[in-house]
Order: sequence, then structure tokens, then C-alpha cells
Amino acid sequence: MNEHVQTPSLSERADEIEEKMMHELAERIATKSVLFGMADGKIELMNGVDFKRNNPDKYFLMGADPRLPKMPAKPTLIDFFKNRFASLNHLLQSATLALKNGHNEKIVLACLLHDIGVASFIRCDHGYWGAQMIEPYVDEEVSWAVRMHQALRFFPDESVGYEYPQQYINNFGADYKPEPYIVREYERAKKHKWYMSARLICVNDIYSFDPNAKVNLDDFVDIVGCNFRQPAEGLGFDDSPSAHMWRTLMWPTRFL
Ligand SMILES: [Fe+2]
Ligand SMILES: [Fe+2]
Repeated sequence: MNEHVQTPSLSERADEIEEKMMHELAERIATKSVLFGMADGKIELMNGVDFKRNNPDKYFLMGADPRLPKMPAKPTLIDFFKNRFASLNHLLQSATLALKNGHNEKIVLACLLHDIGVASFIRCDHGYWGAQMIEPYVDEEVSWAVRMHQALRFFPDESVGYEYPQQYINNFGADYKPEPYIVREYERAKKHKWYMSARLICVNDIYSFDPNAKVNLDDFVDIVGCNFRQPAEGLGFDDSPSAHMWRTLMWPTRFL
């Protein structure tokens, strides 16, 4: 037995398997951004030169990842809902409740979109990310409300019967305090003319999902059609300030 041969560690083994998988994917190699690794506690960047040296006959993926659902050439918001959002239930339940509560279409749309940051992209500061994605396509009040629900979630408002969520106590502990930037944002939002729009997102933001509730994306297609300015070129191809975000969602493993 060669005592100099070291058994690979668990993480080395995992890397090996991952690498093998990438090779088997197709002729093209899908790459992971640094952010993807950080979620596993690692800060690392795949070295393109080494990869090329070991795989001179392969190219990196510079378009669609064949493991993900295929997107149409001119994707709509509904296409992203169907093909890129990990979960629709919470968004649909919130929007359904807003409809039931008789709110106007702007509020219903804000409820439908309030957590698209989480559903498709990233948890941290999800209200800001979500607002930025939709900003070029919705009424300013809608994106403002989506942005501000990030902060308002943490502060009660008795006037509308909104209490600090029990779920946050369960999730973050009873002693969790929002960071100063969230407190500052809340103070600003309180004085704003659209305060109640953002607050209504929180009121309709239901945490106890009823798995049997009948919610359907089709119920919101008309509201989206009337209130979301779908670009004719498709989301991601209209050169808007957030087009790159939609493209990244479409092609998350592109090399560059
Ligand atoms: Fe949220
Ligand atoms: Fe939510």
C-alpha cells in the first residue's frame, strides 16, 4: 500500500463529483459564480485557465444551462414565474388575499411581486433586489412598496392590526433587532405618501400557508397584463436598467 496516497477529504470528493458532473453536462462547462459557493461557506472562483488546460476540447457555457427549464426567446414575467421561481405559493396566496380584501390592482400586483427576490434570486435584502428588478416595468408606487416592505415587516402598525410576526420570533429568536439601516428606512417610510401601500403588503403577507388553498397564477394574468409593462423584446433584452438581472436569472451559469 502506498502510504503517500492520501484519501480525498469529503469536500475534495464533492468537488470531484461536481467537476465530473459539469463535464458530463454537455460539451459546454457550466460555471458557478462566487456567490453560489459562499452559500456553502466557501470563497472561491473557478480558475478558467486550469479548467481549459485539463479540458482543452471543451468550452464554457455562454448561454442557456440545459439543466434548467428552457426559456422562450422573448420571455415574459409569467415565463419567469413558471420557469425560474422556486415557489409560487406564497406570492399567489398573498395576492389572492389582497384581492379578497378588495385592494386595488396596484396593491394586488405589489403583493404578487413582493418576494420575487426570494423566490428567484436571493434572500438577503430581498425587498431591495425585487424592487430593482421590477422598477422599469411597474408604477413607481408598486416598486416603492416592494422595496419598503423589507423594512416595514419588522415593525407593527396597530392601526391596521399588523403585529410583529410570531414567525420572526421563531425564525430569528426573540432578541433579534433589525439593523440600523432597516430602522432608518422604516422611519423614512412612515412619513411617505405611499406608506400604506407598503404596509398593505405586510398585512397581506401571510405566513401560515394553507396547502389546500386554491391559488392559481391564471387569476393574475390580467392584472399583470394591465399593470406590468412587458417589454416587446422580452425581459432581459430591452436594455432597461434591470435587464441584466433578468438575463442573469435566465442564464445563471454563464461564464461571463
Ligand atoms: Fe418579504
Ligand atoms: Fe412575503
